[in-house]
Amino acid sequence: MGAVTEALVRRWLDQAQHVVALTGAGVSAESGVPTFRDAQTGLWARFSPEELATESAFRAHPQRVWDWYVARREALSGVRPNEGHLALARYARRHPGKLTLVTQNVDGLHQRAGQPFTLALHGDIQSERWLDEPRGCCAGGPPMPGRPPRCAVCGNLRRPAVVWFGETLPADILSAAQEASAACDLMLVVGTSGAVYPAAGLVHTARRAGGRVVIVNPQATELDDIADGLLRGGSAQILGRLLDGDPATGRENC
Ligand code: OAD
Repeated sequence: MGAVTEALVRRWLDQAQHVVALTGAGVSAESGVPTFRDAQTGLWARFSPEELATESAFRAHPQRVWDWYVARREALSGVRPNEGHLALARYARRHPGKLTLVTQNVDGLHQRAGQPFTLALHGDIQSERWLDEPRGCCAGGPPMPGRPPRCAVCGNLRRPAVVWFGETLPADILSAAQEASAACDLMLVVGTSGAVYPAAGLVHTARRAGGRVVIVNPQATELDDIADGLLRGGSAQILGRLLDGDPATGRENC
């Protein structure tokens, strides 16, 4: 199916008992956070994922990878949630239990927007964990400062708590996302190219279980073929209009 009107999607939202919003980097684009695969501006157009987002890259060049994540963290401290993040958070608060927010983003902007509950499939760029299974010595005191910090005794390294290519997603978060996707009447797929699995597989799960799928994106995505509707445009404006009700009537979705 192709383009649909926002009025129709608002009706689908009204009718739905359970809604999943699956978000990707595009939902944060209007906050000034670069996406990954957009030509020119995407991070993977400028940097190599093999050199920066794999465990083997980190083991080979820990400082280079660590510094890249520190730079991304620092860039995030200067950005704010946009109207898309805020509209999702307001909707979830107005409709307790109706919306499950599943994000591929590690930027924490949904959480900063006040989203009551977020399933973050790919982790959190502001958090760290041990690279190797921690031993007693790792927990014995604060890590030795450095780039990256390390255990003063065994040398175990701290690493960003994000999911790198080739790694499995946190099982509890993925299974909660799969359950919500299988149970939803409507899935909003916002700002993702649909190129990365298992996240993109959630859209197939929703579709197979009979849920409607609506894609919000200014560009074509790999999931357009299985969508019930496409809303073309930036998510900050579209989500504001969809989720906060129809500005023409002043009516709120209920
Ligand atoms: P991509 O960079 O693959 O896709 C971003 C999508 O956002 C594209 O489809 C754009 O058209 C769309 N977009 C751009 N501006 C937008 C706007 N204002 N409003 C709405 N959409 C907009 O990012 P993801 O699909 O999130 O993995 O990438 C998935 C995963 O690949 C990421 O989580 C990351 C990456 O490697 C990890 O970090 C593990």
